[in-house]
Amino acid sequence: MKISGRTQIVGIIGDPVAHSLSPAMHNAAFRVLELDFVYVPFHVRPALLRAAVAGLRALGAAGVNVTVPHKERVMAFLDSVSETGRRAGAVNTVVNRDGQLHGENTDVTGFLRALGEVKFRVRGARVLIIGAGGSARAVLTALAEGHAAAVTIANRTVRRARQLARSFGPTGMHLSATGLQSLTDARLLAAVDLVVNTTSVGLRGEQFFPLAYAATRRNCLFFDLVYGRATAFLTAAGRASRRTVDGTSMLLHQGAAAFTLWTGRRAPLAVMRRALRAGTPIQN
Ligand code: ATR
Repeated sequence: MKISGRTQIVGIIGDPVAHSLSPAMHNAAFRVLELDFVYVPFHVRPALLRAAVAGLRALGAAGVNVTVPHKERVMAFLDSVSETGRRAGAVNTVVNRDGQLHGENTDVTGFLRALGEVKFRVRGARVLIIGAGGSARAVLTALAEGHAAAVTIANRTVRRARQLARSFGPTGMHLSATGLQSLTDARLLAAVDLVVNTTSVGLRGEQFFPLAYAATRRNCLFFDLVYGRATAFLTAAGRASRRTVDGTSMLLHQGAAAFTLWTGRRAPLAVMRRALRAGTPIQN
């Protein structure tokens, strides 16, 4: 990769950030399209987030991805935030528009595109979301934008599930909140078209919560936001002969959407997917 006098800088700010696959994915895309961009990781501690954003402005970076734990707080330091970002309450992509820093949430777009790739029809769908944190909020935003019909949020802490549903305001979707014991409720499971795990359970190879996989309809889709490994959740769904999508697909599509915002070019998906699969996390 050649760095010139005109090279544009993009990157990712997070804490931690060393495990991120985004540098490999984006740099592979820049290389294949011969774009004069470079994508670098920035380890930014929470106390320095404001200074980091001011630094991006001062240095004229073309943009950044934003990851945990900064996705919510970063909004306060930007000049504008998209409607989707405001609804999701989080920004994962910043675009520098002639010195104005604009926040977007391409996790929302990425989730919808990952569903589109397997021809899942969001409009009218009935969905079960497991978890009620920031990722659940992004998924809920996507489902509202795609006009899903009904969403049940199941969470360990039911109060948090209720808060999430309530904070969302009118969406046109029927929203309900429940505890994790509902995952074994065959009647509930038989009535959904999509089950999404938004918790980090499975990231370290743990067991998943008991769930009535076999009670779901044969064409029910199971989607895990966890990426980079075969999770117990998707393995069990596969064993029940249900279709599955893993988090790599959402990671790819959120990255592709960010790539287009920064470069104005269509993202080379095959190249980016290959870079993700090669999956060598960057070391620091
Ligand atoms: P994120 O922004 O990635 O969604 P988060 O806001 O910390 O992360 O939310 C994590 C979600 O995973 C929550 O729904 C959390 O449940 P609680 O609200 O009850 O804490 C859920 N979660 C994480 N670890 C869990 C575990 N071991 N068992 C059950 N739920 C878990």
